[in-house]
Amino acid sequence: MPDTAHRVEVLHGVNLDMLGRRDPALYGTLTLPDLQQRIEGYAAELGGLRLGFFQSNFEGELVQRLHRLRGQADGIVINAGAWSHYAWALRDALEIAACPAVEVHLSDVKAREPWRRVSIFDGLCLASVSGHGAEGYRVALARLRDALDGAGAGAADAPAPPAEERGER
Ligand code: DQA
Repeated sequence: MPDTAHRVEVLHGVNLDMLGRRDPALYGTLTLPDLQQRIEGYAAELGGLRLGFFQSNFEGELVQRLHRLRGQADGIVINAGAWSHYAWALRDALEIAACPAVEVHLSDVKAREPWRRVSIFDGLCLASVSGHGAEGYRVALARLRDALDGAGAGAADAPAPPAEERGER
């Protein structure tokens, strides 16, 4: 049987390897491996998705990973941690990856310090999901799967791209 699953890469940036040891009130108690297992579970429930995972504390490594995803991934879920608020090279790299992406934050970044309200991915991602903890990744995968299923229908059949979706928080 041909593998028709959409290939989705789940990317984590700086300090996300410290989940489980960071403030649980903000980030929950799951470690990164726990979170990845949870995300695999969401993908299995949704169906039609094949996941890859990558985390780095080195911005250049994440940039290189994004370069290599061009033509390899159908979609990207990205939680770039604090880089999300200032690391513009990551925005360029995500653009170079040239596939639909959804930004996720475990915490509600809009309700925290003002500098966290800036997202370098604004206007580039299909959606930005924040403040829902691990559950936010389910929302992100569902959003990507819908977009990718639509893309598979061919341009003429595809639903019009939604207006920028913020507020799935
Ligand atoms: C985070 C939010 C960022 O502001 C912060 O720097 C992180 C985690 C989140 O998942 O809530 O490292 O991306």
